[in-house]
Amino acid sequence: MAESDIQRGSWNSKAGFIIAAAGSAIGLGNIWRFPYVAGENGGAAFVILYILFVILIGLPVMIAELAIGRHTHKNPIGAFSRLFPKSNWKLIGIMGVVTGIGILSFYSVIAGYTIGYFVKLLSGQLNAISGPAESQQIFATFTADPYVSIGYLFVFLIFTAYIVLGGVSTGIEKWTKILMPLLFVLLIILAIRSITLDGAVKGLEFYLNPDFSKIRPSTLAKALGQALFSLSLGMGAMITYGSYLSKRDNIISSAVSVCFFDTLIAILAGLVVFPALFAMGMDPAGGPGLVFIVLPSIFHKIPGGMYFGAGIFLLLSVAALTSTISLLEVAVSYFVDEKRWTRQKATIIMTITAFICGIPAALSFGSVEWLSRLPLFHIGMLDLMNAVFGNYSLALGSLLIAVFTGYKWGINAVKTEIEEHGNRFGPFGLWAFTIRFLCPIAIAIILGYILITGHYF
Ligand code: TRP
Repeated sequence: MAESDIQRGSWNSKAGFIIAAAGSAIGLGNIWRFPYVAGENGGAAFVILYILFVILIGLPVMIAELAIGRHTHKNPIGAFSRLFPKSNWKLIGIMGVVTGIGILSFYSVIAGYTIGYFVKLLSGQLNAISGPAESQQIFATFTADPYVSIGYLFVFLIFTAYIVLGGVSTGIEKWTKILMPLLFVLLIILAIRSITLDGAVKGLEFYLNPDFSKIRPSTLAKALGQALFSLSLGMGAMITYGSYLSKRDNIISSAVSVCFFDTLIAILAGLVVFPALFAMGMDPAGGPGLVFIVLPSIFHKIPGGMYFGAGIFLLLSVAALTSTISLLEVAVSYFVDEKRWTRQKATIIMTITAFICGIPAALSFGSVEWLSRLPLFHIGMLDLMNAVFGNYSLALGSLLIAVFTGYKWGINAVKTEIEEHGNRFGPFGLWAFTIRFLCPIAIAIILGYILITGHYF
């Protein structure tokens, strides 16, 4: 290993990498975003599309990103310019760094709310919830307070910056390893409670029994965007994480595990949300507040529910944290590697940038009216950032990464990288087909259609 590689750090073990990459993937995307987007887009039919996109587009792109990262040992911009110096391919990386900071900004607003809900539950403020109407009211009041929204955004970003400052393996691995399995267990308990509520069956039906007539072109774009967002793909996060991977590690099995666990948690989150939601007669298309409204309305139906609830929101904050560190890490590793900044300087400047960009999103839940419903777009600032950075930019990024690996760097270079230390790339032909044809064509059709019809949101 070159000295520069030692300085950058690497994962302590193979499990360390899978845990960290799963930590990046599993986050608010699974538990906050997936249920509300599925709810707005018809339920089961959306879920099936989502799973198809995870397997047919997410997994192949993840393999490509990890291979690029491990081969170059670089951040996304450095990776492309190392492979093809002076070419324009590094624009993919630049777009990735910008997208990462964009996602970090609005994501941290929601992550801040999860800390806020942890505090609320622990201090007994949600004890007396009588039902969804009241829960809805509490969420609206809480998020409409500008000081609260900006304050928690700030607190959350400080946590993120603190861990990113600690460097890769000491910071990230340690946290994820203990807390993600715990989150999984608590979600299973909640899902059981939710499914056994009176009237939960209608929710299961909505979630699991597809009605394909509900699929519109924008549903395709949203299912694709959700798959990429949830797997942390399309902006180089997995290039960056792959750059810390050792040559012995098996890229294919790592990618499969990450996709599997990530999808499992998302499906589980749906099993928590939809049965309870229908049991309480709520609207599945309730928007970004959905989990914050549904979850507190079932806690009091569990013994010790408020502490249980506090535990859930605490773990949700941690899940968000293991995701935001990957978003911040992309920008930080770029400035450290390419611009020779110190880790400290890069972390501080990027955190401040994300904070400033996050403020308009934090004010878009009613504190500032025009930000809550932007003229022209007719959606709030957070929704807009979510669509631009969290959907379209990732789709475009994934398209370009597929074209880059399929045609420029070449499928055989990926095969060599993967097989270098005795690992076998079993389904190579299948992967090559998806990365060269299926991914670029499917993404191009979806993006093209959206562009022509103008159904962006
Ligand atoms: N995947 C994370 C989630 O589901 C969010 C995230 C972290 C992300 N890093 C990313 C999304 C990179 C896209 C790109 O919560």
